[in-house]
Amino acid sequence: MPPRFVKATSLRLLRERPIRSFKIGLFKSVTIFYAGGEIFATQGHCVHMHAPLLTGHLEGRQLTCSWHGWQYDISTGQCLTNDWAKLATYPVKVEGEDVYVGLPEETAAEKLAEDWETD
Ligand code: FES
Repeated sequence: MPPRFVKATSLRLLRERPIRSFKIGLFKSVTIFYAGGEIFATQGHCVHMHAPLLTGHLEGRQLTCSWHGWQYDISTGQCLTNDWAKLATYPVKVEGEDVYVGLPEETAAEKLAEDWETD
């Protein structure tokens, strides 16, 4: 089933702060990254011990987790510290100033029931 694109943030907000996050349902979140003019979206928490990726350090496409330093390529989700670890990634599209993230249909339905949180 194709992903369902939901409005997640704006280019203006991403330019102000290049890592943003929003909740999907009660326990999950998605993190959006603005890296060198490109936008990527991954699951919201580190594979290691679930630190919020929102607090990580971004350099180019490389994110360093703020808790124990695991590093990820946010364009693929691949962990650069441990081969076996990988973040889920989501497709992104931009329409005008609006940034949309493609979520699985059931996840999107869950998200729509929640308030938006982009900080
Ligand atoms: S929680 Fe991210 S490196 Fe440990």
